Amino acid sequence: MELTQPLIAPSILSADFARLGEQVREVVDAGAAVIHIDVMDGHFVPPLSMGPQVVSAVRDLGLGAHLDVHLMIEHPERQIQDFASAGADTITIHAEATPHVHRAVQQIREHGCRAGLAFCPATPLAVLEELELDLALCMSVNPGWGGQAFIPASIEKLTLMRALVGEDTVVEVDGGVDAATAAPAAEAGAGWLVAGSAVFGTADPAAAFTALTAAVRPS
Ligand code: DX5
Ligand code: ZN
Repeated sequence: MELTQPLIAPSILSADFARLGEQVREVVDAGAAVIHIDVMDGHFVPPLSMGPQVVSAVRDLGLGAHLDVHLMIEHPERQIQDFASAGADTITIHAEATPHVHRAVQQIREHGCRAGLAFCPATPLAVLEELELDLALCMSVNPGWGGQAFIPASIEKLTLMRALVGEDTVVEVDGGVDAATAAPAAEAGAGWLVAGSAVFGTADPAAAFTALTAAVRPS
């Protein structure tokens, strides 16, 4: 599936879980090439969300979308194998969640996945100079919940992130992406823009996805 940037990656955190398959199918039919899956452990962030079973359920829909798994969990190295086996394509861990970031990145690749590293709003980007990543994720809210407001300083951080990583590294932004914030975030360098409530929190997720995509790809 084509991963032309910039793209909108719908986050199923805001989906109707009783109709998850149907909702994912709707946005993929509308052109979503990347589906973002938010995993929360009740420790790194207070809420619990979903585990590898949900990743394999989405994979088993057979839609061909790239599954972008965002691990907001402590000790991510203990869970990488399970998420890789479940069908994750990219696995992103948090820089703050393990003292052994380099090893965890290696592990992700050993399991055949692309490796991402996420940064909370107050986390410095210096570690980017020490690693070659497939994806760098700039949190534009504090992780844990959908529906929060985009932190304006994230625009500057995205610009810095884009300058620090190699040209083949995807820069992703996550949190508060909507009709107003998507275009400035894309202009600042975000290639993948995660949108939860702005897609699945609306009455018509496919139409919302299409409108957000148009906002970041002006013709
Ligand atoms: C927040 C998650 C996000 C969340 C974004 O911790 O990482 O992916 O789904 O939700 P919105 O788009 O509603 O801010
Ligand atoms: Zn996320």
